[in-house]
Amino acid sequence: MSFPSTRLRRLRKTVGLRRMTKETFLGVEDLVAPLFVRSGRRTRKEIASMPGQYQLSIDESVVEAEELYEMGIPAVILFGIPAKKDKMGTGAYAADGIIQKAIAKIRTSVPEMTVIADVCLCEYTSHGHCGVVKKSKDGFEVDNDASLKLLAKTAVSQAKAGVHIVAPSAMMDGQVGAIRKALDDAGFKDTCIMAYSAKYASSFYGPFRDAAESPPQFGDRASYQMAPANVRDALREVELDVEEGADIVMVKPALAYMDIIRLVREIHDVPVACYNVSGEYSMVKAAAQKGWLDEKETVLEILTGLKRAGADMILTYHAKDAASWLS
Ligand code: PBG
Repeated sequence: MSFPSTRLRRLRKTVGLRRMTKETFLGVEDLVAPLFVRSGRRTRKEIASMPGQYQLSIDESVVEAEELYEMGIPAVILFGIPAKKDKMGTGAYAADGIIQKAIAKIRTSVPEMTVIADVCLCEYTSHGHCGVVKKSKDGFEVDNDASLKLLAKTAVSQAKAGVHIVAPSAMMDGQVGAIRKALDDAGFKDTCIMAYSAKYASSFYGPFRDAAESPPQFGDRASYQMAPANVRDALREVELDVEEGADIVMVKPALAYMDIIRLVREIHDVPVACYNVSGEYSMVKAAAQKGWLDEKETVLEILTGLKRAGADMILTYHAKDAASWLS
């Protein structure tokens, strides 16, 4: 058999044919918008390394959540920036903590918006680590089991404030199980867990640490976050989180880890989220500002690529822009 030279190009010839043969659909309902909440009133403080992203006071975060919901975005994930940080990260689990107040306010003001809260200590600890730090032979150590107690306490305090989904991101072993048990014991059987299961020790978190004012004051996070070279480790993490009760699992960052998204999608039946992190956002913004990339085309290509890789939902700072382009 002989084939004409346009064997494959034939179906790409017109807009109509390209629409008919499209395999992956990106929708506004796939997106989750991260918000940074700080103290104060009427405050929108732009984050220098993340143009277009702000630290918002609670009243402003409500305005933002309303706008996002109007645009069709179904969920926000909240990060708190407490007025004061301390060794044990007490601001993370205070009944009147910044995030607890923000959750309650957004829940009453925008009742249809799904509210997710990050569960970690790094934004609240003076040392910037994700758990309880103690001295050890090697200098310091992040104490796994002592941290679990505080993470569970944080999740329960967020559930009391009305959060729909808690998202543990501290990478302590057993955190999903500890949080599930604490939620159940406190009567929050319907609070969902979105586990940051495969969370890599990544340089792409740089701008987030500016945004949340949370860089580690000493050492790094490599003793609890995963090594970028590893695949099997990610699958173990996801497997254990599903066993421990994760309702949704996440791969983070997204772009350098699309193989992991695909594998998790194929192996597990739970919804898979990916986090298109701060550094991935800032790279695109910086290049677009210089006129080196077309921002809209680039962002939609990235987000479509993440869906194609297997993500059911995408946490992304591009959410609001993408929603405006998708409508
Ligand atoms: C908290 C947390 C981090 C991010 C999400 N949750 C920071 C970190 O682990 O250093 C990063 C998100 C981003 O870069 O956009 N542990």
